[in-house]
Order: sequence, then structure tokens, then C-alpha cells
Amino acid sequence: MTIQSKTSTALTLVSDPVSPGLENTIAAETIFSHVDGAAGRLIVRGYDLEQLSDWSFEAVLALLWQGLVSHEDTEAEIRVALAQARVHAFRLIETLLPATDNLSQVEGLRLLLSSMPDAEPLAHHVLAVAAVPVFAAAIARRSAGLAPVAPDTTLGHAADFLHMLHGENAPAEKVKALDTYLVTVADHGLNASTFTARVIASTKAGVFSSVVGALCALKGPLHGGAPGPVLDMLDAIGDESNIRAWLVNALVRGERLMGFGHRIYRVRDPRADVLKQAVTGLRDSGGRINFAEAVEKEALALLAEKKPLRPLQTNVEFYTALVLEGVGFPRESFTNVFAAGRMAGWTAHILEQEHLGKLIRPQSKYVGPMPEAR
Ligand code: COA
Repeated sequence: MTIQSKTSTALTLVSDPVSPGLENTIAAETIFSHVDGAAGRLIVRGYDLEQLSDWSFEAVLALLWQGLVSHEDTEAEIRVALAQARVHAFRLIETLLPATDNLSQVEGLRLLLSSMPDAEPLAHHVLAVAAVPVFAAAIARRSAGLAPVAPDTTLGHAADFLHMLHGENAPAEKVKALDTYLVTVADHGLNASTFTARVIASTKAGVFSSVVGALCALKGPLHGGAPGPVLDMLDAIGDESNIRAWLVNALVRGERLMGFGHRIYRVRDPRADVLKQAVTGLRDSGGRINFAEAVEKEALALLAEKKPLRPLQTNVEFYTALVLEGVGFPRESFTNVFAAGRMAGWTAHILEQEHLGKLIRPQSKYVGPMPEAR
């Protein structure tokens, strides 16, 4: 397409129609995951998500990083490397933790992660994954007026996350639920934060710069900031007799129901069922699940009624909220826990992008005024 300026100078511009959310744009090839929005299927490096739900987070890291790193190939090696890196990360927080005091918990994590040098001598991808639980647990404890708890290198990643949060070892059922959560959110195609990480990595800015950018993208309520508001919504609804009226009023006010809708899934997000299963494994979760199910049922009926042209289904965040509440995270820390899991995908995509070695630099379509004739 060409447009004419007032001086008759022809400019050649990008001709394809622009979709503002890049919905139909394929911006990368990846070996890590495929999101099939029509079938409600998530494939992670050759496995359906449901097949991975019993794996440890370390095993999924081994799967994602396989062939891209020269060390830490096996689940056992990764477990050891992560434990050592958690100890390293813990040494870094002492001076900086007070600076997080006036920030939200995700802003606190952003501050601590951005303090890490890109020239850090430890393997960056390992340290990035290891640092998030250390920082997130210390920030959550500080918000509650508690001192940070040092990592325990004998524990697996999920178990140590809960140990650093609570100051004692968590029961096996909670460790299992958190492991399942971390695995479930480990990677998910070219979501906004992963795309951000790849763009930054493509400039060769380094791993920590890339993951800080990814975290900034994750923090928004349309991406990783939703599960806290899901609990706020359940609390605001209060009891079963109020469900329909509350949801109708929210939609009338033009609000979005948190935990519903997705850019790619037009059917139920497969992660929702894996996480619902994980909540069911937690003792004392019965009442909360029954209530959440009743809210979900009514919300889906209302969304189908009010937005008939747009299939809106339950997304990952709805049952995320219940899992994270069930294992004892304060809701203000939910986005940080999401980051702990998604760091697996971010680091894998950064490694993939670095191997590719190509700067990401799309074009825009100029629709502004042309200069006056000189
Ligand atoms: N509640 C009510 N309406 C919703 C909705 C929700 N959760 N999600 C989408 N819609 C509606 C929009 O209002 C819009 O309606 P309109 O066409 O009448 O204006 C239509 O569906 C399309 O919305 P759009 O924002 O274009 O879709 P998207 O693909 O860009 O949005 C999300 C995807 C996830 C951002 C969106 O579904 C959302 O905001 N969900 C709630 C937040 C959430 O759960 N985030 C976690 C995502 S994993």
C-alpha cells in the first residue's frame, strides 16, 4: 500500500492489516509449548499437560532446558543446582529487603530481581528460577512482620518454597499441590510476559534484564495479576444466596469477572481442571471448592447469556486462587508465586532466543500526519 503526502512524496508502508493485540501474528517458533485454544489442549515439549501433572517442577525444568544448557541436565542435578542457588540468592536479600517496604509484593520482587547483575557468575537460568521463591517468601514474611527464613538444601524446590514461607516444613499434600501448580503454569506459548522476555533477550541484554521485563508484563491484572482478585470476588460474594445478584451487578457495571475468558482458549482452559484436582487433594478444602464451583457455574451461565458472541470459559486463574490459598500464600503474593512457576518458561524461551541470535524488531504502520511541504 502507498499513501501520498501533501508534497506528493510516496511512502511505502506496511500493507497487512494491523491487529492491535497481535492475535493472529506468529512471532516465534518454539519447541516448548503449544496452546490449542479450540481443543482446550496444552502440549509441553511432547507431553499433554495432564501427563505432567504428577511430575516435579525440577523434572519439568529438565524437560524444558534439555539440549539448551551444558549442565544440569537431569531432574536430580537440577534439584541440587537450584538448592545451591537458593542459598546464594538468600545472601543477597539482607541489605535490599527493607527497600521493599512501601511496595506491593510483586513490586518488591521486581526490585530484588532487578538488583541481580546480568553478569552474575552463577548459571543465570538456574539462579533466576531459584531466586524467585527466596525473594517471594522473604517479602511475604516481611509484610507480615516476620524475619526471612533461610533455604533448606535438603528440600525440593516446592517444599523449600513453603518452608521459607511458613518457617516449618509443609505437609506432603501441600508440597504436592504447589508442585502441581508450578508445573501447570511453567510454560504457555507466547503469552505477554514470555514474549516480553524474548524481545529483551533478543537484544542480548541478559537473563535478569529479560526476566525483570517479563515480570513487569506478568503483573498486570489481564495476565498474572488475576488470582488475588478472584479471591476478592469470592469474598465479596460472601455466600451462595448472593452469587447471581453479585455477578449480574458486576457485569452491569462493565467489570470483568476475574478467572474467566482467555485470548486463545475458546473452551475450558485445561489448566483449570488440573488445578481443581490439586485443590481437591488438600484437606479442609471442601467448603471453599463447593462455593467456588457454584460461583463458576453461575458465572459461566451469565457470561454465555450476556456475551453470546464470545465464548468465555474458566481460565487458569480461577483455581489457581484456591490452590495458593490452600497451601497458605497470602493473596498479595499470588503473582509472585505465578512468576516462580513461569520462570521455567521464561528462562527456556530466553535460552531459545539467545541460541537463535536474532533481534526482534517488528514494524509499525504510520497513520499520523505527513510533514508540510518545505
Ligand atoms: N468478564 C466479562 N467479560 C469479559 C471477560 C470477563 N472475564 N473477558 C472478556 N470479556 C468480554 C469483553 O468485555 C469483551 O466484550 P465486548 O466485545 O462486548 O466489549 C469481549 O469479552 C472480548 O474481550 P477482549 O478483552 O477483547 O478479549 P481478550 O482476548 O483480549 O481478553 C482476557 C482476554 C484474559 C484479558 C479477558 O478475558 C479478561 O480480562 N479476563 C479477566 C481477567 C483474567 O481472568 N485474567 C487472567 C487471564 S489467564
